[in-house]
Formats: sequence, structure tokens, C-alpha cells
Amino acid sequence: MEPLLTVEKLTKVYSLKGKPDLTAVDGVSFTLMRGECLGLIGESGSGKSTIANMITGLVPPTSGRILLEGRDIASGGRRVLLQAYRRMQMVFQSPADSFDPRRTLGYSIGESLRNMGLSRREADAEAKQLLLLCGLDPSFARRYPHEVSGGQCQRAAIARALAVKPALLICDEATSALDVTIQKEIITLLTKLREQSRDGLSILFISHDIALVQQFCSRALVLYKGRLVEEGEPCAIISCPKNDYTRRLIDSIL
Ligand SMILES: Nc1ncnc2c1ncn2[C@@H]1O[C@H](COP(=O)(O)OP(=O)(O)O)[C@@H](O)[C@H]1O
Ligand SMILES: [Mg+2]
Repeated sequence: MEPLLTVEKLTKVYSLKGKPDLTAVDGVSFTLMRGECLGLIGESGSGKSTIANMITGLVPPTSGRILLEGRDIASGGRRVLLQAYRRMQMVFQSPADSFDPRRTLGYSIGESLRNMGLSRREADAEAKQLLLLCGLDPSFARRYPHEVSGGQCQRAAIARALAVKPALLICDEATSALDVTIQKEIITLLTKLREQSRDGLSILFISHDIALVQQFCSRALVLYKGRLVEEGEPCAIISCPKNDYTRRLIDSIL
């Protein structure tokens, strides 16, 4: 397998007026292989979202490098950035908030496709196909975000993320706000999408729930106060944690 994403000594220091600097992410390095589903585990506030946001360009890193398919995207020019960001998509915890409430789901799913030059009609048709792929009836294209359940909205968010055929999907606590049964359904959907994708969809699966990561990921990283403290197969981490923090994280969940 070849590396899809390489993060080298990534660091984020937040400087807020009147407060001491906060190092949210501290020299984090890891590689995600093409087709891999990598878990990123850590308690709330450990820096998981900051890492995701630096990778997708929402937050500028203080230092470090982010290589996507071998190209440094953190310091690349505008064109490199635009190309790179089309190769990555995020799925967030509260899908309803990530959709424009005044637009139908179909409109929002087709938005990036229209931006890429597809006609309204072509984008609408593709949006319906994407809904179907994500286990929703194509008629959901006409619904508004407030007219669907949390699980259905997350399916639509995944459909929207897949529209640009990304190489990397970053799921940041994408199932954390859902009931356990719906959580399982979304994991089943993501597993199916990975199996079906021709070019091997890679996933960075961020969660505070190590048991969930165990079900879905073959390898996981454990983050504590902005630093990577452990890496390995989730089963091995759970059965034989190398440090006290990981042990406590496991005890709090299992
Ligand atoms: N925009 C911001 N400005 C200042 N501090 C932030 C900002 N975003 C996050 N933080 C802080 O950085 C730390 C890591 O946050 P975050 O990356 O959201 O962690 P997680 O996703 O693991 O819960 C926390 O202490 C949080 O309060
Ligand atoms: Mg977070």
C-alpha cells in the first residue's frame, strides 16, 4: 500500500488575547495508507478536531507538514490547495448544522457538482444516485434538513461528501450524536462504501469511542493532550494498553 496522507510534526498553538498560549496539537506525525481506515481516538479536548481541521485547511497549522499524495498542501499555492481539498471531504457530528436549512438536501448534495460545471439537471440526477448509494430513497432529494431524522441527515451528508469522489473521507465524531442502532447503520454504510469503491476510499475515523473504532478500523492512534501516545491494532490497544491514559480511556467506555 502507498501512503495517501502523511502528517509530519503537525503542531497547533492557539493564541488568545489575555490567555496563555494553548498547544492543542503537539508534534503529531502519522501516515494513512491508500484504502486504509485509520482510527483517531482521544477524550474531548485532546485535539482531534484541530488535526482534522488542519488537514482540510479550515485551521492553519502553526508548524509541520501535511502531504496528500506526496504533495505538501499546507504550504502549497492556491491551485495545489484547491485540488487537494477536492480529494478530501469531511463528515461532522451534527449533519443538520452542516446543511443550509433553506435548501433541499438534493440541492446541497449537487452543489459541488454544479461548481464543477455540471448542469442543474445533471447534478440533480447525480444527487439522487448518491442518496440511493447511501441507503435513502431518491425522493429525499426534495426534503429539507429539518424534515429528516438525524441518521437520515447523516446519510445525506455522506452522500454530499462522496459527490466529488474524494480519496479521503474524514469522519469527525460522525456517529457520536446518533443512537446506538443508527450508529451501527452508519458504520455498516461506511463499510459498504469502502468495499464498493473502485479506487479504495480511505477514511480517517475520529471518535472518543474506542469500542466503535475497534469495530471499524484496523489501526488506531491514541491522542492525549495533543500528543500521540499509542498506535496499533484497536484490539491490541484495548487488551494491552501501553500507558495509563489509554487504560483510563478504555475503562471509561467499555
Ligand atoms: N478556535 C480555537 N481557539 C482556541 N482554542 C481552541 C480552538 N479550537 C479548539 N481549541 C482548544 O484546543 C483544544 C483541542 O480542541 P479540539 O481539537 O476541539 O479537541 P477534540 O476534538 O479532541 O475534542 C481544546 O482545549 C480546545 O478548547
Ligand atoms: Mg472534536
